[in-house]
This record gives sequence, structure tokens and C-alpha cells, in this order.
Amino acid sequence: MTESNLHPTAPHLLLIGASRGIGLAMAEEFLRRQWLVTATVRGTGQTALHDLSGLYPQKLTIEQLDITQTTQLNALHKRLKGRRFDVLFINAGTSNHNQDETIAEVSTEEFTHLMITNALSPMRATEALEDLVHADGLIGIMSSGQGSIGNNTKGGKEVYRGTKAALNQYMRSYAVREAQIHPSRSLLLLAPGWIRTELGGSDAAFSLEETIPDIVSTIEGRCSKSGLEYLDRFGGVIPW
Ligand SMILES: NC(=O)c1ccc[n+]([C@@H]2O[C@H](COP(=O)([O-])OP(=O)(O)OC[C@H]3O[C@@H](n4cnc5c(N)ncnc54)[C@H](OP(=O)(O)O)[C@@H]3O)[C@@H](O)[C@H]2O)c1
Repeated sequence: MTESNLHPTAPHLLLIGASRGIGLAMAEEFLRRQWLVTATVRGTGQTALHDLSGLYPQKLTIEQLDITQTTQLNALHKRLKGRRFDVLFINAGTSNHNQDETIAEVSTEEFTHLMITNALSPMRATEALEDLVHADGLIGIMSSGQGSIGNNTKGGKEVYRGTKAALNQYMRSYAVREAQIHPSRSLLLLAPGWIRTELGGSDAAFSLEETIPDIVSTIEGRCSKSGLEYLDRFGGVIPW
């Protein structure tokens, strides 16, 4: 897929986890850039994404998905059957409440919750929804710079780091399989930078306004390349 042949009419994004934070801001930026967006929220309540649909009633479709629930994944796949997306991007993710705790201190329950949400579920969603994506389309997952083993010289955020490193490893294995089936497909693990959201916290270095245009440009730019890369929001390669 090249940027020039992204779409017959308008390119279509399937975005998982867009109720707030980075996902919500990504949905808004793609809509501004004339994409059609189908985006998911977890619950059945009103979210800021629903407010956005008032501004883009023809272009934004809202679906419901808790990424950890396989029955919901299968139901979403069934509802979307027959559609074809240029990009599937899985943004949903979480962190532990006390990000300073060590791997030995975290409760087994919280560790399991984080691993299921950040590592297992994005890969299950990828496998469940991949056939909705054009053979030469892009499948991306929101990773984190914290997931880099090579760059981990300072430690910290041990539990969260481990989940994103595991995600990266699983995506590399998926990419090996995927290369046999869809050699033209683009796969992306994206590190957005430290951004002020509920997860990033108020001390984070960057605002959504400063970072989202670069995040979206990097995804758009990556659409023309096959294979897997782990990139920062400027398109720079991050060491595994
Ligand atoms: N902010 C940063 O500095 C930063 C840095 C690196 C990577 N990231 C990654 O970027 C992504 C978005 O983070 P954020 O900062 O925007 O966090 P956020 O403001 O806390 O938003 C998290 C989003 O993920 C959704 N989500 C969480 N668990 C889910 C589940 N089980 N099923 C479906 N949706 C679920 C949330 O939905 P609800 O509203 O329903 O909870 C919300 O839309 C995450 O993958 C995160 O790890 C963030």
C-alpha cells in the first residue's frame, strides 16, 4: 500500500481504545485529515468520543469493545465482517497504580491484569481482526519506549515495562508468521513519548496537542512500507 493508493474514496481506520487520552486525540486527528474512523470504547456509557461523533456524524462510527473479553472481540469481528480497513491500530492499554513498585512487590492479581491488557489482549485483537485489514494495509499497536530492553539502563516502571517488552516480543513472532501470509503488510509498534494523560500523569513531558500530529503522521508514513518496525512518534527506530 502506498499513501497515494490508500483508499478508493477515503482511507478507513479501525482504532481500538479511543474513549479518552491518546486514542481519543488520534481519532480526532485522523478525522481532521479526512479519514473515516471506526473507533471503540469499552463501556456502554457516554464518552468524549461520543461528543466527537457530533462533529463528524458521517465519518466516525463508534463500536464497543473490552479488549480483554474474547467474546466481545468475536462479536465485534462479526459486526464488522465485510468491511475492509486500511489501518487497524490498537491503542488500549493500562498501567499499575503504583508505578514505582518493583516486579517482586506487585500483586499477582495486578501483574496478571496488566499482562492481559497490555500484552495478551492486543495480540488477540490483532489475530481476531486482521482479516478486516487490506492485505497491504497496516496493523499497529501502541507500545512504549519503556518496552525497549536495549534502552533500559535506568530501570523504573518495572511492571509496565515488562508488559510492553512482552508485547514487542509477541509482535515480532507474529510478524514472522505474517510475512509468509501477507508479505506486503505493514506492522508497527509505536512509542508515543511521555504524554500528559491519565496514564502518563500530570508530570509528563508533552501535551496531546504537541504529540498527536507526529504520531498520526508516522502511522500514515508507515503505510507504504512492509514488515515490522518499532518506532518513536517521529518515525525514528527504537532499539529492541
Ligand atoms: N501517556 C503516555 O505517556 C504513554 C507513553 C507510552 C505509551 N502509552 C500507551 O498509549 C496507550 C494509551 O495511553 P493513554 O496515555 O492515552 O492512557 P489513558 O488516558 O489511561 O487511556 C487508556 C485508554 O485505553 C482504554 N482501555 C484500557 N483498558 C481497556 C480495555 N480492557 N478494553 C478496552 N479499552 C481499554 C481506556 O478505555 P476506558 O476509558 O474504558 O478506561 C482508554 O481509552 C496505552 O497503550 C499506553 O500504554 C502512553
